[in-house]
Amino acid sequence: MSTASPSPQSATWSQRFESALHPAIAQFNASIGFDIELIEYDITGSQAHARMLAHTGIITPEEGETLVQGLEQVRQEYRQGQFQPGVEAEDVHFAVERRLTELIGDVGKKLHTARSRNDQVGTDTRLYLRDHIRHIRQRIRTLQGVLLRLAEQHVETLIPGYTHLQRAQPLSLAHHLLAYFEMLQRDWERLGDVAKRVNVSPLGCGALAGTTFPIDRHYSAELLHFDSVYSNSLDGVSDRDFAIEFLCGASLIMVHLSRLSEEVIFWASEEFRFVTLRDSCSTGSSIMPQKKNPDVPELVRGKTGRVFGHLQALLVMMKGLPLAYNKDLQEDKEALFDGVKTVEACLEAMTILFDQGLEFQPARLGAAVAEDFSNATDVADYLAAKGVPFREAYNLVGKVVKTCLSQGKLLKDLSLEEWQALHPQFAADIYEAIAPKQVVAARNSYGGTGFEQVRQAIARAHDRLGAAEATA
Ligand code: ARG
Repeated sequence: MSTASPSPQSATWSQRFESALHPAIAQFNASIGFDIELIEYDITGSQAHARMLAHTGIITPEEGETLVQGLEQVRQEYRQGQFQPGVEAEDVHFAVERRLTELIGDVGKKLHTARSRNDQVGTDTRLYLRDHIRHIRQRIRTLQGVLLRLAEQHVETLIPGYTHLQRAQPLSLAHHLLAYFEMLQRDWERLGDVAKRVNVSPLGCGALAGTTFPIDRHYSAELLHFDSVYSNSLDGVSDRDFAIEFLCGASLIMVHLSRLSEEVIFWASEEFRFVTLRDSCSTGSSIMPQKKNPDVPELVRGKTGRVFGHLQALLVMMKGLPLAYNKDLQEDKEALFDGVKTVEACLEAMTILFDQGLEFQPARLGAAVAEDFSNATDVADYLAAKGVPFREAYNLVGKVVKTCLSQGKLLKDLSLEEWQALHPQFAADIYEAIAPKQVVAARNSYGGTGFEQVRQAIARAHDRLGAAEATA
C-alpha cells in the first residue's frame, strides 16, 4: 500500500506530518459529504467568532471586518453553486477556512485563533438544530390545526371506540382526532423544552480546556442568540445530550404519527371503509387494477424505525466515550440530519393527507356503531344509576349479551317485556339510553367523549393554538 502520491490532505496538518493520508483513509475520515449541511451555520458561527476576536482586541477591527466580509463571500459562492468543496477539504470547517484564505489572503489564517474545530462543530450543530426545531414545531402546529378543523366538522360523527382492537364504546370522531392533537401538543412542548438545552454556546471551549486568549464567550454567544454558554469546557465540546434529547422527542413524534398512520391504514381497508383516500394521496398497483393503496401512512409508519435507530445509534455512540472530544462524535451528524429530515417530511405528508387526502364516511361510521354491543356498558350504567350495584348490573348485562348473541339480536331488538323480565328497573327509556348518539353524549365527564365535553376540548385546543401563535 503506497502513500506516495501527494494528497492535498497533507496541507491540513502541521509540519509534524511528513506524508499524506492514504487516499482511502482520507475518504474514510472525511465528513464533508454530509457536514456540508452545516455550511451556513459554520459561516454564521465563524462571523460571530471573528467579531468577538475584534471586540476583545485579539485581532484588529479591520481584520475582523475583512474576515466577516470574506465569510459572507464564501456564503454567496456556496449559494450560487460556485463553491463545492470535495473530500480534499476533509470537513466543512476546513473547507470554509481554506476558501476564506484563498479569497482574502493571510488574514483568513487568523480566523481559527482561540478556537478549535471541537467547539466549532458543536456550535454549528446547535445552530442547525435550533433552526430545525423551530421548523418542526411549526409543522406540528399546522398538523394540529388540520386535526382541529376536522374535529370541528365531526363532533357528532360517531366512530367505534376500541380496546384490544375489540369494539368497546362508541366515540365522537372529534374526540378520537383530538387525542392526536393532545399527543402533538406534548411533542410541541417537549421540543420547546429540548430547544432550551440546544441553545447553549460551546464556542470558546477550545479543543477541550479553554484558551489562553482573552476571549469573551458571552459576546459571541449573544451575537448568535444563544441563551447561555457552557460553563465547563470539557462538557461543552463533548456534550451531545441535546442531540439525543432531540431524537427522543423526534422518536415520540414518530410514535404518534405511526399510530395515526396505522389507524388510517385499517380505516381505509375494505373491512372498515371508515375513510376513503383521495387520488392525490394514494397509489395504485402495477398489477391489480382495483387497488388504491395508503402509501403515505405506510411510509410514515415505515420511516419511524429510522428515527428510533438514529436515537439508538447516538446513545450507543456516547456511552463509552471518555472526555473530551473523540472522533466518534463525527458520527452524530448523519443520524441527526436524517432524523430531522424524516420528521419534517412525515409531518408534512400527514398534514397533506389529513387536510386533503382522505374523507371520513359518517354514514358508514354511524352504521358501524349501530350494529354492535358497544352500548352494553350503558345498560349496566342504567341499572347502576337506579341503585342496582354496578357489579350485579354488569353480570346481568353479560347474560343478556350472551342471549342476544345466541338469538342473533342486538340489545335494541329486545322488547320492553324482555327487558323487564330481566330486571324490574328497566323502563321504556332504556331504548334512548342505548341509542349510539345518547351513549356518546352521556359520557359528559371532564375529558370524556360527550359532545359537550368535546366542544369544550375544541375551545381549549383553539386557545392553545392561539396562545402559541401569540408567543411565536
Ligand atoms: N468533522 C469533525 C466532526 O464532525 C470536526 C471536529 C474535528 N475535531 C477533531 N479534533 N478532529 O466531529
